[in-house]
Amino acid sequence: MRSRENYTPFVTTGFGLTLAILLVFQVYIVREPSRIQVVESADRAEAVKAGRDLYADNCVACHGATGEGKAGPALNSSELLKMTADQTFFSLIRSGIPGTVMPAWGQTFGGPFTDEQVTQLVAFVRAWEPTAPQIIPVVIAPDPVRGATIFANTCFTCHGENGKGTTRAPALNDLTRLKEFDDLWYRNTISRGRPAKGMPTWGTVLSPMQINDVVALLAAWRQGQTIAPAAVSNTKHLSNALFALRQFDSLDAVFYLSAASSQADASKAKEIRAVIDLIKANHLFEAESRLIALLPPTEMGKELYESNCAPCHESDGSGGLGKRLLNNKFIQSKSDKELVSFILTGRKGTAMNGFQNIIGEDELINVVALMRVWQK
Ligand code: HEC
Ligand code: HEC
Ligand code: HEC
Repeated sequence: MRSRENYTPFVTTGFGLTLAILLVFQVYIVREPSRIQVVESADRAEAVKAGRDLYADNCVACHGATGEGKAGPALNSSELLKMTADQTFFSLIRSGIPGTVMPAWGQTFGGPFTDEQVTQLVAFVRAWEPTAPQIIPVVIAPDPVRGATIFANTCFTCHGENGKGTTRAPALNDLTRLKEFDDLWYRNTISRGRPAKGMPTWGTVLSPMQINDVVALLAAWRQGQTIAPAAVSNTKHLSNALFALRQFDSLDAVFYLSAASSQADASKAKEIRAVIDLIKANHLFEAESRLIALLPPTEMGKELYESNCAPCHESDGSGGLGKRLLNNKFIQSKSDKELVSFILTGRKGTAMNGFQNIIGEDELINVVALMRVWQK
């Protein structure tokens, strides 16, 4: 019988080799994360650099040079950066935020940028994180003057001037009643309303801040103060009246028209009163066309333009991120109808997103009227 072969030396060497391999491998494993980081940070620095240029050309107009926010919210807020994953930023930037002026930037969504460019923008925004200031969302103290403006626009029609009451609703500016209940009671009453008794539920219409403003107005009344609303432009009154008329709400329409006539000059006031008479005689369609004739389209256009277009084209149409609209060949070559449909659809592959669900066609006509003035 052969003696048992002695494997010990092989086993030992084998074991030694395994150990060596393991050791090397271990070192490798231990080193791996930092190796990845080195590669990543080189890539990242590249991405941040590319993102900075894209940001400067396309985002500064609305989010500010250091992400401090302008027409768009602040992006260099430590809270936002902490709460928002890269993936979320990526998809927000790629698809835009429908219903707002935040355009879609990704090509998949009709915008100008590839996914790689969107990733670079995310890297750039992320790079603010280590030094991002804590931007506490502005907590605006309740303001009775703002409250009076809201009151004049939404409560006045039923509760009357200065809350004196009308046949439609009781007086609110009633000292005994005001002293009987506190701010909390008023806040709840206004939010919930009493729908069965004709008091609308304002909690679904006004923001909590707006309700606080109105409660601040009531609190001022409780102290015997008289608060005048901030001035509302005549154009605003007239366009509110037009809106009300189109909803067949004659009472509201008359209210806004009266407000407009009280601050208009004599000849304009006379025309406004003529519209009121037509409404009272129930000639609503005639009233509507007379009212439209009173509304300067360019003024109405300016309001819309300021909030929707000025962030990219500047208030005076001189251009910025968006093209210059003054003496513009494209505008001159198109009919009003064509321009309206252009604004509704936008231009694929650019930051000029369509305004399909944001502005109505009959309102856009006014924006077009404003752009026409710029063609002379
Ligand atoms: C025309 C103005 C405008 C431009 C240009 C614009 N944004 Fe915005 N952006 C907005 C507005 C407005 C919002 C907020 C929308 C909302 O939710 O009400 C927003 C929101 C965002 C948000 C989400 C922030 C949050 O608080 O959730 C990100 C991220 C963002 N924008 C990134 C960008 C980047 C990157 C660019 C440039 C490629 C850009 N935006 C260009 C107006 C703009
Ligand atoms: C469409 C008409 C209408 C409008 C607009 C309206 N209200 Fe009223 N409101 C009423 C009626 C009617 C009542 C009385 C309900 C009842 O009989 O209990 C009332 C009751 C109230 C009460 C309770 C008064 C009390 O002493 O019991 C408050 C507070 C109030 N309204 C605040 C407001 C505010 C603030 C607004 C504007 C944001 C507003 N209302 C707009 C019709 C209206
Ligand atoms: C997010 C930025 C942005 C907003 C907001 C925006 N635009 Fe533009 N707009 C652009 C850009 C960018 C172009 C140029 C697209 C291109 O490269 O062809 C453009 C092009 C146009 C043009 C065509 C000009 C030409 O010479 O080809 C018109 C007209 C126009 N915009 C009107 C408007 C109006 C009206 C609004 C508001 C309702 C508006 N834009 C809102 C960015 C914007």
